[in-house]
Amino acid sequence: MAVLVTGGGGFIGSHTCVELLQNGFDIVVVDNFSNCNPKSLERVKELTGKDFPVYPCDIRDLDGLCKVFDNEKIDSVIHFAGLKAVGESTQIPMEYYDNNVVGTLNLCRVMAKYGCKKIVFSSSATVYGYDNPSPLVETMKTGGVTNPYGRTKLMIEEILKDIAASDDEWSIVLLRYFNPIGAHESGRIGENPNGIPNNLMPYITQVAVGKREFLSVFGGDYDTPDGTGVRDYIHVVDLADGHIKALDVLNKKTGVAIYNLGTGNGYSVLDIVKAFEKASGNPLPYKIVDRRPGDIDVCYSNPEKAFKELGWKAKRGIEDMCADSWRWQSMNPNGYDD
Ligand code: WQD
Repeated sequence: MAVLVTGGGGFIGSHTCVELLQNGFDIVVVDNFSNCNPKSLERVKELTGKDFPVYPCDIRDLDGLCKVFDNEKIDSVIHFAGLKAVGESTQIPMEYYDNNVVGTLNLCRVMAKYGCKKIVFSSSATVYGYDNPSPLVETMKTGGVTNPYGRTKLMIEEILKDIAASDDEWSIVLLRYFNPIGAHESGRIGENPNGIPNNLMPYITQVAVGKREFLSVFGGDYDTPDGTGVRDYIHVVDLADGHIKALDVLNKKTGVAIYNLGTGNGYSVLDIVKAFEKASGNPLPYKIVDRRPGDIDVCYSNPEKAFKELGWKAKRGIEDMCADSWRWQSMNPNGYDD
């Protein structure tokens, strides 16, 4: 029986595939490769020495998904597939609702049709909205989300809760990610955004390899120790390990379980810049500019519930995150296009 990984070619998906394979799971990957390079999966196979089926398929393609379930014995699903750029989502909201929400509904329909009712969903701390104080805990109300990307995550959480309420055979885990950064220690897989990076770390690494002139620090007047935004950065391999632990829950109980995947520590933009300079051994040019619309001062997790119930805790610190991000980018200046 295999774990179906939708979006398995992406940054978090590919790192999770490595951890699944190295923990003895069989996997099947579905990805439409609209936002990632298939080479990432070739490197997953190289790193693990294991082979697995890859279906170039969009989760909105009902027939394509049915073919996967016809051909493979799927026991559970880890669902990463979706568009994830906050800014872009405000420009093309219909694409985001179609890809993320309709795609997930499609996936759940096909799962039910084949009697597969176990799913781990890649959610986001963004569902807590802006009026919850950090450290964020799972019992806090959700909502107050100000962009279509975040609203798709919130809607999908509600859809999955309604599915579980309608059919008590479903086992559902919602994992709320904070800020995933870093890369596999080999430097063979990593974050490979298309175009100009929206997120902090890929922008920093592209400056460090000379692809970008300097980092724009969005805002120096936040209510934080150094005035720059504070976030809960978590190593992508720690995040991947959280998914392995979540699979155990699917096999132990039905209903919906929700967990924060964060470190519980907040670091500012300038903290990350300094840690990165130490890791790379070079100064990182930056300029403090105006705030980015929609950003908040501080966002970090209380990760205790995942520790108590999953036995999961992030092990890697920002030094590892920066060193691993730097190794990936310096070994692959053009990402998978090298
Ligand atoms: C982090 C900090 C910026 C870029 C978003 C989504 C979240 C998840 C992760 C997908 C902030 C600052 C950034 C730059 C900067 N997305 N920054 N210069 O906004 O916390 O979260 O990405 O799963 O759902 O909301 O992450 O990396 O964009 O920003 O100064 O060029 O870095 O202001 O303080 P964010 P981020």
